[in-house]
Order: sequence, then C-alpha cells, then structure tokens
Amino acid sequence: TVHSATAPMPPVPANCFAETVTEVEHYTDRLFRFRMTRPTSFRFRSGEFVMIGLPNAERPVFRAYSIASPAWDDSLEFYSIKVPDGPLTEHLQRITPGDTVLMRKKPTGTLVLDALLPGRRLYMLSTGTGIAPFASLVRDPETYEKFETVVLMHGCRQQAELTYGEQLVAATQDDPLVGELAADRLRHYTCVTREDHPRRLRVTDAITSGRVFDDLDLPALDPAKDRVMICGSMEMLRDGKSLCEAVGLEEGSNSVPGTYVVERAFVD
Ligand code: A2P
Repeated sequence: TVHSATAPMPPVPANCFAETVTEVEHYTDRLFRFRMTRPTSFRFRSGEFVMIGLPNAERPVFRAYSIASPAWDDSLEFYSIKVPDGPLTEHLQRITPGDTVLMRKKPTGTLVLDALLPGRRLYMLSTGTGIAPFASLVRDPETYEKFETVVLMHGCRQQAELTYGEQLVAATQDDPLVGELAADRLRHYTCVTREDHPRRLRVTDAITSGRVFDDLDLPALDPAKDRVMICGSMEMLRDGKSLCEAVGLEEGSNSVPGTYVVERAFVD
C-alpha cells in the first residue's frame, strides 16, 4: 500500500530525495500523471530520467521515469502507465496529494539537446508514455533556440490516450515563457492504431510512407537538416532506429553527439 502522511515514515535511503505529491490526474485505466515537489538542490537537463520508488517497503522498488516537466519548472511532473501487478505501478497509481515519493539523486539520459548535432528541424517520435521526455523538451526555450521547427509525433492505441499530449501542447502554447516561441514552430502529429481515427497508423509508418511530411507540408527527412529523438517500446525503438539509419542519420550520445538519439520508455 501507499505510504500515508499519518503513518511513520521509513528512513529515506541515503541516495534519495523524499518528495511530496502535489497533483494526480488519471487519464484512462492505463495512464496517469502526477506532480511532486522539487528539491532545491536537484538539477537536470530537459529530457532526462530519474529512478522513482515508494517508501513503503524495506527495499523499495525503483523504476526509470522520464521527467515530463522542463528544467526551469519548480515542481517535477511524471507521466506513467499503470501495469496490473507491476511491482511499482500497482502502488504508484494509488498515490494522492500529500503522499511521499522517493527519487534517486542522479538524473541521466540521452534524449537531451546536448546529444544532438545542430539542425533545423527536430522530430520527436513517441508512442504511449514515451511522450514524457518530450513533454519536458517542448516546454524548454532552449529547444526553440536550437531548432526552427519541432515536430512532436505521438502514437497510441486509442484516441483517449492522446489526451495528455493534447493538453501538453495547448498548455505549452499558452505558456508565458515558451508560448510565443512554440506558437507556430511546435507541430503536433498524432496517430491512433486500434480504433477509428483520421490517422489510423503507426508513427513510424507515418514517416516511412511520407504521410507526415505531406500532412504537415514539410520536406522528407534530410540528414543535413533533420534531427530525431525516439522514445517508446523496444520494438518501436528498433523500427525508429532503422528508419533513421535508412536516411543516413547516425545515433548520438552524450559523449558523441549525433543526428538521432533513442531511449526506451518505461516498461513495467
Ligand atoms: P499497435 O496497436 O499497432 O501495436 P503500447 O500501448 O502497446 O505501448 O503501444 C502504443 C502504440 O505504439 C500503439 O499505437 C502501437 O501500435 C504502437 N507500436 C507498437 N509497436 C510499434 C512499432 N514497432 N513501431 C511503431 N509503433 C508501434
């Protein structure tokens, strides 16, 4: 069960922050987001992930979570799947404001602007909760300093699973800090695979078929100008990587920046 504010708090592991949940919103029976306080000493780069756990066990279970809020934000947002019997999410999905969440102190990850060589357009290719690191990056002014156009692509099984991304884009366009930058430079492209939808296809197929370029009136991927970030399931990463390699993009990392980067979305 989730640790409640009234029960005695187990000791916080030395390498962890213990933060307070401030907001929880459920989207479907599979998806929710939450916000929590941000430790003043905690620094991260937009797009990075941290290890999250609950203080309810002697040896808490930790899982990697992309931080879905930008580096300038004074609270931390996370977007999560709910996995039936998932060692962490079966408990995490029941948190409410006031509960404590543990976060290991060191953020990391490759879906960061530093891992990409300069370019003109940035494609963010995501499925499911893989949109989380991009939720951070589309709200970071640095993304618009580095790229002229930002294309946020999100594919889900059902329309209802697109709500988080739709609210994110609306909030970004309304944001006093990035709203003006994002106004006509952030393009949102959604796909649905398992119910009727005007774009019933996978995000990867929207690229390989050229459909996204037609729909958004953009040129086909060009390794001289386009950069790609990919986040989703293992299979989706594999397909995303191969479509990048097919047009001559090269995988980057923090130590050797490239023209595309990948990271696996949270799995269980
Ligand atoms: P599909 O319905 O064809 O499997 P999930 O919720 O299982 O993570 O899936 C989220 C979305 O990712 C679904 O729309 C799913 O499509 C899609 N997807 C699954 N595998 C791939 C892949 N290899 N490439 C692109 N999209 C994928």
